[in-house]
Amino acid sequence: AASALAITMFAAPAFADPAGCDDGEMVIKFSHVVAEKGHPKGEAAKQFGERVNQEMEGTACMEVYPNTTLYDDDKVMEALLLGDVQIAAPSLSKFEAYTLKYRVFDLPFLFASLDTVNAFTQSDTGKSLLTVMEDEGYTGLGYWLSGLKQFSASKPLLLPSDANGLKFRIQTSDVANAMINAIGGSAQKLAFSEVYGALQTGVVDGQENSWCNIYTQKFFEVQDGVTETNHQTLAYLLVTSTEWLEGLDPAVREQFLKIADDVTQAANADVANKEAACRQNILDAGGTIRELTPEQRTEWVSTMKPVWAEFEGDIGKDVIDAAVASGS
Ligand code: LMR
Repeated sequence: AASALAITMFAAPAFADPAGCDDGEMVIKFSHVVAEKGHPKGEAAKQFGERVNQEMEGTACMEVYPNTTLYDDDKVMEALLLGDVQIAAPSLSKFEAYTLKYRVFDLPFLFASLDTVNAFTQSDTGKSLLTVMEDEGYTGLGYWLSGLKQFSASKPLLLPSDANGLKFRIQTSDVANAMINAIGGSAQKLAFSEVYGALQTGVVDGQENSWCNIYTQKFFEVQDGVTETNHQTLAYLLVTSTEWLEGLDPAVREQFLKIADDVTQAANADVANKEAACRQNILDAGGTIRELTPEQRTEWVSTMKPVWAEFEGDIGKDVIDAAVASGS
């Protein structure tokens, strides 16, 4: 009885109704994997929930589950189709089972800044990619930017050759795998919730992520340092089940999509500030950040950029050209 009680007490908070939905309200569950506070996605999801709960009171109610308390990013895709969850926002690196087009977002050194990522997502090509998975049952509602990615490792990384022989955790992305191979490392795909433990125990030697993930997950505490490579973008697809979306009453759908759009725009307008704050927080907490000289950076670019050629066929040259044009 004692252990049954312990299990109940442990399990209850994760599955409690965080929004206090009323009887008769349609419950919209939003599951994600990052921290609730101080993270672009965590804060945007919270704001989305608050807006739905205020403005759709009596009609709909959103429950937001952060920090992998409900599903990891693989399981959440199945849960969307099963109707166990209605909204998710996995990284664009995690859709390879459904489309290869999103590999464009992973090409190293394609986007020089968050502004260029934003410009691409607003372009005709970027918008057309929102609906590219409808045959699989998913509709993208928008893109949430998270940051540019930085490498961290158990030893200083200043040149790509410093990564020789190191094992890096990657997301479920073959582009990331090719990129790590190009710098002489080996890659291991792991769920986000497993990264801290894998770094701490030495199962992997390094990882790549945004400033806010490195800060809020405390990765910097179990790494020698972080190198400011800005080598890739981290961005999310705000995604739902096409069937669920189409099944909504038109007026409800319109109101819901308007809120989603407002929240998306507000979040993307503030993402660079949040990332700068997370970078500073790492320094304030005693973490090490290494900046690259222009010569060192050139080495990273010339070592990693050749992987583009491997993925051009999957992505389409037209899509890559449109992304490159957004940066110029
Ligand atoms: C990761 O797995 O590293 C990221 O996709 C996590 C996230 O959602 O930012």
